[in-house]
Amino acid sequence: MTQASIRPAAAACLAGERIGDCEARKENGLDRIERVREKMDRVIRGLAGENEKRDACIHLYGVSQFCAMIAMKRGVNVELAVIAGMMHDIYTYSAGETKDHAHKGAEMARQVLISMGSFEDGEVEQICSAVYHHSSKKKKHGELDEVLKDADVFQHCIYHPGALAADKERERWEALKREFGIR
Ligand SMILES: [Fe+2]
Repeated sequence: MTQASIRPAAAACLAGERIGDCEARKENGLDRIERVREKMDRVIRGLAGENEKRDACIHLYGVSQFCAMIAMKRGVNVELAVIAGMMHDIYTYSAGETKDHAHKGAEMARQVLISMGSFEDGEVEQICSAVYHHSSKKKKHGELDEVLKDADVFQHCIYHPGALAADKERERWEALKREFGIR
């Protein structure tokens, strides 16, 4: 993956630059979720327009919070789910393109998580697997992968309540409505 097209703020995040230093924040009591949020906030702030920043913020925080809700219900690791939700579109918002963003984003997320130095290898694998598979809405993968895919669909559908779900998300949305008792 080349970083030539990556926006400066995103590139700093990706490189593990420690502006304000993550270790100092850890001492100040910020947990891993807050530290990932801070990194993604910097990616969002690097976007060009106010509308783009707003949309990215709503989508990433929305998906992340739906990840928490779904993970709680299914007994999946909530912390990793929240982090996967925050990072899942990291490539889209860093590079400004959606093509193959899930696969490219998994590699970008891996670099960021490793640079933070506070995740076990297995945790990095789980988060990056979820990011890698999140565009494959019509296939089934692991528990955390499925939480992220469903949270992505939840956010899209709840943001426009009453609107018809996109073709590729309709089956998953119908299953979610049954699971969560939504009519
Ligand atoms: Fe998304």
